[in-house]
Amino acid sequence: MLTLDDLLPIATPLKLEPRRFGRVVACDGGLIEAGGLDVPVGALCRIDDGHGGSQPSEAIGFRNGRTMLMLLGDTVRLRPGSRIWTEGHPGMLPVGTSFLGRAVDGEGHPIDGLGPVRVDAWAPAGGARVSALERARVSEPFDTGVRAINALTTFGTGQRVGVMAGSGVGKSVLIDMIAHGHDAEITVVGLIGERASEVSDFVARHMSSERRATTALVAVPADHAPNLRLRGACQATALAEHFRSQGKRVLLILDSLTRVAHATREIGLLLGEPGAARGYPPSALSTITKLVERAGNSASTGGSITGLYTVLADGDDQDDPVVDTARAILDGHLVLSRALAQRGQYPAIDVAASLSRVMDDIVSPGHRALARAFRALVANYEANRDLVLMGAYRPGADPELDRAIGMQDALNGFLSQERDEQASLDHSVARLAALFGA
Ligand SMILES: Nc1ncnc2c1ncn2[C@@H]1O[C@H](COP(=O)(O)OP(=O)(O)OP(=O)(O)O)[C@@H](O)[C@H]1O
Ligand SMILES: [Mg+2]
Repeated sequence: MLTLDDLLPIATPLKLEPRRFGRVVACDGGLIEAGGLDVPVGALCRIDDGHGGSQPSEAIGFRNGRTMLMLLGDTVRLRPGSRIWTEGHPGMLPVGTSFLGRAVDGEGHPIDGLGPVRVDAWAPAGGARVSALERARVSEPFDTGVRAINALTTFGTGQRVGVMAGSGVGKSVLIDMIAHGHDAEITVVGLIGERASEVSDFVARHMSSERRATTALVAVPADHAPNLRLRGACQATALAEHFRSQGKRVLLILDSLTRVAHATREIGLLLGEPGAARGYPPSALSTITKLVERAGNSASTGGSITGLYTVLADGDDQDDPVVDTARAILDGHLVLSRALAQRGQYPAIDVAASLSRVMDDIVSPGHRALARAFRALVANYEANRDLVLMGAYRPGADPELDRAIGMQDALNGFLSQERDEQASLDHSVARLAALFGA
């Protein structure tokens, strides 16, 4: 049954003052120019389609007295002179506790058919800039529920981590496992630019489990307008910030950061910015830097956002500008290896290439030593794998390698984990210790 509270956000008060309109004066591909429209960048506008309806669009810039807009919808019966008016809260995104248990799109509208979502507050789309000291340092470990990560690249609460891999190597499945197994209070998931079927998969798996009451989902599939995809990423981040400001431990998952960068590239190129590295205009890379910087610990509220961002390493190329930028700005990265995935080892985490920059500060010296020993064994075996498999290696020549060969099955068994299996932090560390008889 609808309560008064449900109606509040949709019941707009009657406005009797005159409304101002702008007019479409040019349309060039995805870019619309409007005259007489006095709105700030980031404002949502509607364009009259001349048939009683209107199309949403967003102001992305202005030049020579004209406002430049991008359509958020797919098609529009756009004509020269169509009326444009502004709506809502320019540059602000809706946030609130009612987003928990719900799935919304890039405009914050529900997509799960469960009725309107109540908006508690409006948060700036670009985040509120805070002083560098407001970001408390990472000092507590974060339990991901994935054994290899917990034991060998332990995450910290408030850390920002990238999951980097080529397409189809298992990024989405891995973050799905973490979304299921982590120990934070709130999960905010942004599925940006991915397949629509992945969105329904995610909703089916997570929005029916006991996690539902603490999970908010923002989904903008690949076929949506680029500024809607960027808005979706900002919406997910704004929601995470909202819960952090209440002192909560939040896990923010963004799949994928690369698609957000693609969206900002499209917008930048449309605005006439020159493409630099691989066609990415400078603003595209700075936008993702800003987005990632919004995660972290809050010193004033005690809340945290642990950020998990997937990054597509195109063609398994680790020197892609987005990969490079992400690696520089993030406090750690997990690299997934296609070779391991092809061998059927899942999650296909390349232990030697993965790194958590905060691990040394948050785990015990004993744990650190064991993780280092594990990494050394894996690296040693991988470096000599071909020799060993060809039978060219003579046992006894290298005691370390002998040990790595002897422990190979145990090491692989430790790294493998079924999709629905959960391994807590304590359990993972205990098993690591048991592996070395410690
Ligand atoms: N832990 C796992 N156990 C079993 N199979 C897995 C696992 N992880 C990944 N796979 C297999 O790999 C396939 C691709 O995984 P996933 O969709 O996670 O890749 P991705 O890196 O997200 O791809 P894309 O770049 O296209 O989004 C899955 O459909 C599944 O068959
Ligand atoms: Mg994926």
